[in-house]
Amino acid sequence: MIKEIFDNLLATKARHDAEAAEQVKEATNGNTVLKEIFDNLTLQCDKFEHYFELCERHLKKYVGRSPRILEIGCQYGGSAEMWRKYFGEGTSIHGVDIAPQCAETDYLKIHIGDQGSHAFWDLNFRDKREFFDIVMDDGSHENSHQIVSLLCTYGLLKDGGTYWCEDTHTSYYFNARVSDGGYKNPHSFTEFCKDVIDVMSSKHTRYAIGVGPIDGPRVPPALISQFDKIQGMHFYDSVIVIEKGPRLKFERVIHRPSKR
Ligand SMILES: C[S@@+](CC[C@H](N)C(=O)[O-])C[C@H]1O[C@@H](n2cnc3c(N)ncnc32)[C@H](O)[C@@H]1O
Repeated sequence: MIKEIFDNLLATKARHDAEAAEQVKEATNGNTVLKEIFDNLTLQCDKFEHYFELCERHLKKYVGRSPRILEIGCQYGGSAEMWRKYFGEGTSIHGVDIAPQCAETDYLKIHIGDQGSHAFWDLNFRDKREFFDIVMDDGSHENSHQIVSLLCTYGLLKDGGTYWCEDTHTSYYFNARVSDGGYKNPHSFTEFCKDVIDVMSSKHTRYAIGVGPIDGPRVPPALISQFDKIQGMHFYDSVIVIEKGPRLKFERVIHRPSKR
């Protein structure tokens, strides 16, 4: 009798464990294609586990479409190997890094330089306007660098392209790993992106009707022209994604059912 109860308890526990594992898999890594590729890379690659699911959510549409990728922080080439394997034949990657740490391949071209330097971007990518499908920032994670990189490379994205910045938890770090973050620090990348949300909604925020202490336009005109093509922004733990494209139409439609 006691043995039967004990066996039942063990079976219930095993079932609960399996269900919990399945739930974690769904929540963090539901689609494991990218993770499987990651696990079998020949070169070193460094990611947080929940990025795989988010990548698939936002970047799956480029699979099999020979995307052109700009990757800031290509390091040992492992992430470029992963993108090439995930997106497939014809994928081409321009990798930027401050230090040469990997070799070029038939799919990876390397540019050595500082992502925080306007001059670097101007010199190396002037001729690449609207050239890339994806821009990924996995470089220094310094907030000022992330901001300069977004400002200098957003114009390099095609319409329909995706801007992906990872490790944005450094927005909350001050003098630990990075020097220029901190909770609500107006110079952090996350706070900068919150301003960009206002740009995305500038049809509304420029008049700021009836709310807040300030009258009149709120959004700096320079930012409006820089980011006039944003369709959506997504904020996750440690990742910010911007979808580039013409503004979504803001048109009210009303369906009035006819009386019977
Ligand atoms: C986190 S690692 C990149 C990891 C790689 N993408 C991966 O997934 O395995 C960051 C890289 O950014 C580079 N880096 C640091 N500061 C930089 C800067 N100012 N400009 C460009 N690259 C920089 C580093 O040399 C390093 O290779």
